[in-house]
Amino acid sequence: MGYENVIFEVKENVGILTINRPKVLNALNPATLEEIEDVVDRLSSGEEAKVLIITGAGDKAFVAGADISEFPKMNSLQARIFAQKGQAIFFKIENLPIPVIACVNGYALGGGCELAMSCDFIYASEKARFGQPEINLGIIPGFGGTQRLARLVGRAKAKELCMTGVQLTAMEARELGLVAQVFPPEELMEKTLEVARGLAQKSLVALRAIKEVINKGLEVDLYTGCALEAEAFATSFSSVDAREGAMAFLEKRKPTFKGTLTQ
Ligand code: COA
Repeated sequence: MGYENVIFEVKENVGILTINRPKVLNALNPATLEEIEDVVDRLSSGEEAKVLIITGAGDKAFVAGADISEFPKMNSLQARIFAQKGQAIFFKIENLPIPVIACVNGYALGGGCELAMSCDFIYASEKARFGQPEINLGIIPGFGGTQRLARLVGRAKAKELCMTGVQLTAMEARELGLVAQVFPPEELMEKTLEVARGLAQKSLVALRAIKEVINKGLEVDLYTGCALEAEAFATSFSSVDAREGAMAFLEKRKPTFKGTLTQ
């Protein structure tokens, strides 16, 4: 598939997906969603890249939401399909077997905030702004915003944010636990790449297990979550990487992990 609305490149095992519609602040129209899905599908075997970074083109926006110009022509049946499509793609991102970092360089509003929340963690520029402003359009978030925001920042804060539509600064978002780290704008991509390159050197099998256990564990009670953890812990011992990790420690050398999901 050729891409018109996104740019995708892989360097040193790190994939960078850039949403590339800067004239409309990288708003998500159906074509852009399809291209994001195509990239995510390509990465599902863990072979093309070991880590994915998602960012926005230009210096103003990560993604300023779903493309509002599409809304006037949508009836409620089409709106349901649009929401389900966006949700399905964001679930694919959440469930990718490799780590996904949102590199939020500017506005992450509506679908942009929802896209960032479907990633494993968010690094933000000091200029980034987060929010669910759909209320100001007389609608509600549709790409998982009400659900993921409530899980990330708690029920009351999520309601306040979705009901008022206010924007959070990057520092406020960090205080709430929505953002993992905030960097000066000119350092954001380099710092994100540094962490991504570090992750690409680790055991992909173990990274995947951490992701799965935390994601699934948050949906169940503590005992069930810990049982999932014990299973994944046990499984991780059968990987080549687990032997390499322990041997490298004992031999006082750096481990060389296989970098595959199947070993
Ligand atoms: N959908 C479609 N177009 C959008 C868009 C969106 N979500 N967000 C921004 N744009 C377009 C604007 O219409 C404008 O186009 P124009 O140059 O042809 O007029 C261009 O991007 C630049 O945006 P502008 O509003 O002029 O920039 P700003 O700096 O004054 O404001 C925002 C920035 C992000 C505060 C403002 O664009 C905004 O509120 N966007 C909508 C956010 C939203 O409600 N998202 C949820 C959608 S469900």
